[in-house]
Amino acid sequence: MATLHTLWMGLVLLGNLGVLQTRAQPQVSLQPNFQQDKFLGRWFTSGLASNSSWFREKKKVLSVCTSVVAPTADGGLNLTSTFLRKDQCETRTLLLRPAGPPGCYSYTSPHWGMVHEVSVVETDYEEYALLYTYAEGTKGLGGQDFRMATLYSRAQSPRAEVKEKFTAFAKAQGFTEDAIVFLPQTDKCTEEHS
Ligand SMILES: *[C@@H]1O[C@H](CO)[C@@H](O)[C@H](O)[C@H]1NC(C)=O
Ligand SMILES: *[C@@H]1O[C@H](CO)[C@@H](O)[C@H](O)[C@H]1NC(C)=O
Repeated sequence: MATLHTLWMGLVLLGNLGVLQTRAQPQVSLQPNFQQDKFLGRWFTSGLASNSSWFREKKKVLSVCTSVVAPTADGGLNLTSTFLRKDQCETRTLLLRPAGPPGCYSYTSPHWGMVHEVSVVETDYEEYALLYTYAEGTKGLGGQDFRMATLYSRAQSPRAEVKEKFTAFAKAQGFTEDAIVFLPQTDKCTEEHS
């Protein structure tokens, strides 16, 4: 009986440790030797994967948007995106603070004060970048975690190989086929100065 009890306790402890370990570790790996200066400049957001209900509703109406990445004084990134909304170009800036290892950033969203962790998982700087965003669930979102994979490409329509890379990456993060979308090309709001 005592042995059974010990075994049971051991299993419970192991279970708890497992949970602690997954929480403490970064969600994803980072681009080795990430060079922030090479990551700067203009990117197109050409692919997205998310399991948020917001995304499931909106994915049909989204199109490619431009993001200009610039350095900030604190060593982080100023990410200014321009996208089409209700027939108008809108601009939104995200300020990413450095958060530990190079390629890992965080930002606090104005809604609900949720802290998002943004990781550059893989990039060749010249053609594509795979990003992963994670935020632990808060009451405002019904306690659900937020997870999103993003494909950045220097060209508005990435090559088939790059799309395949993103699909494989998104699936490895647990996203199903219907949660992955490649955004259609647009000539609206994608010009350098529009
Ligand atoms: C998204 O995935 C996370 C982690 O697997 C999960 O906690 C969350 O409930 C999911 N959200 C939705 C809307 O399915
Ligand atoms: C971020 O970049 C935008 C666009 O260049 C600029 O208007 C804004 O002032 C910048 N913000 C910060 C805090 O650097």
